[in-house]
Amino acid sequence: MQTCPSCGFNQNKDRARFCANCAGALTSAPVFALGVTGLLPPNAILQTRYIITRKLGQGGMGAVYQAQDARLHGKLWAIKEMSNTQLTDPVERANVVMAFQREAQLLAMLDHTNLPKVVDFFEEGSRQYLVMDFVEGYTLEQIVAATPGFLSEPTVLEWAEQLCDVLEYLHTHQPPIIFRDLKPANIMLTREGKIKLIDFGIARFFKAGKTKDTAAYGTMGYAAPEQFGTGQTDARSDIYSLGVTLHFLLTKFDPSLSPFNLPPVRNVNPQASQNTEALIARATKTGVAERFQAVTELRQQLHEMANLPNSHFSQSSSHLIGEWKGKYDGKPIRMTFGENGYVLISIGNLSHRGVYTVDLSSKLARLDIRMENGDRVTTILEFVDANTLRFENNAPSRPRPTMFSSRAILFSRQ
Ligand SMILES: Nc1ncnc2c1ncn2[C@@H]1O[C@H](COP(=O)(O)OP(=O)(O)O)[C@@H](O)[C@H]1O
Ligand SMILES: [Mg+2]
Repeated sequence: MQTCPSCGFNQNKDRARFCANCAGALTSAPVFALGVTGLLPPNAILQTRYIITRKLGQGGMGAVYQAQDARLHGKLWAIKEMSNTQLTDPVERANVVMAFQREAQLLAMLDHTNLPKVVDFFEEGSRQYLVMDFVEGYTLEQIVAATPGFLSEPTVLEWAEQLCDVLEYLHTHQPPIIFRDLKPANIMLTREGKIKLIDFGIARFFKAGKTKDTAAYGTMGYAAPEQFGTGQTDARSDIYSLGVTLHFLLTKFDPSLSPFNLPPVRNVNPQASQNTEALIARATKTGVAERFQAVTELRQQLHEMANLPNSHFSQSSSHLIGEWKGKYDGKPIRMTFGENGYVLISIGNLSHRGVYTVDLSSKLARLDIRMENGDRVTTILEFVDANTLRFENNAPSRPRPTMFSSRAILFSRQ
């Protein structure tokens, strides 16, 4: 019996080449099966530099692996593998490879905090590879699936803000870049609460050999009506997909059940606000002219909603998310509040992890921290105003452990 290096399944016959459970390769020799992706086993090496550690995902036309860098120790990459061998016409194939290289070149020039940086691309074993930063986190699809009930609206709106940032960046690029496949499965969230757009449109060159602007580039339910048939797609198609994505995040309603005809948000989730429902309805209009015409416009509306009277604190968890900096015993201290209630606290070169909960009504947050030295600390954060929070120290290892020390640290949001 052989054990699969990818999934650990140990009932494979001795002479099998592929795992009966996950179809991964059972041999550590390079596998060059034409047109097949996802077969690189752990420890396979690409370009004498990228050591495959595991497979992260497998789609119809390609696979994504995690890899370690043989030169930069400890650096992790995500490597997307694509094959174009399903294209039988050599001229078409050559065109597709050229298109891939052009697109990879373009992606490598992009630089935005909500995009994993693309650092390398190459061809090896008749497959194309794209190397980018490995994002430590989960897709929004996974996060929704793991959330009982509905995600909170401030959380979703804070993600919306980050998505607006990156879409605006892409749409104002010269030439403009339309993402075309925005959906929860293509958006990741890091522990620190940062959104990352993955699955860049590069794969479209490999989808069934189509190079026209067709529905092959979108996902049913998330793709705008004009992405089907002969309609032209532009920034407004991404706005549509953003609207459907926000709808799903707030309602868990599967849009493929009734494409182009979503129920009003509050029919499914009555806790959502009227403003948000209206924003999503406008973004997801069937007619392109009725939608927000640019991401800037949608973002403007998000901001107006956030500035409504009394909403400062109903938005507090979105203000909490992000980075706060201050001084602690004369040393710089940084707190990074992430989604899902995680917080990372760095003081000098020590870092502590913890969890936090926010009480919206009293403007207080409770922080439960496990210090690097093993101490467990519970402390209270007070929001003084939108840019200031007060933190009272009561660590047991302090000289005089008290419930609340008199030392208060003022933070300012970065
Ligand atoms: N840069 C990345 N960092 C970490 N994981 C990634 C990255 N890119 C993709 N993945 C993982 O691989 C999976 C598939 O990636 P994706 O690019 O969406 O390909 P496809 O949809 O074509 O299969 C994602 O769901 C995610 O789990
Ligand atoms: Mg994807």
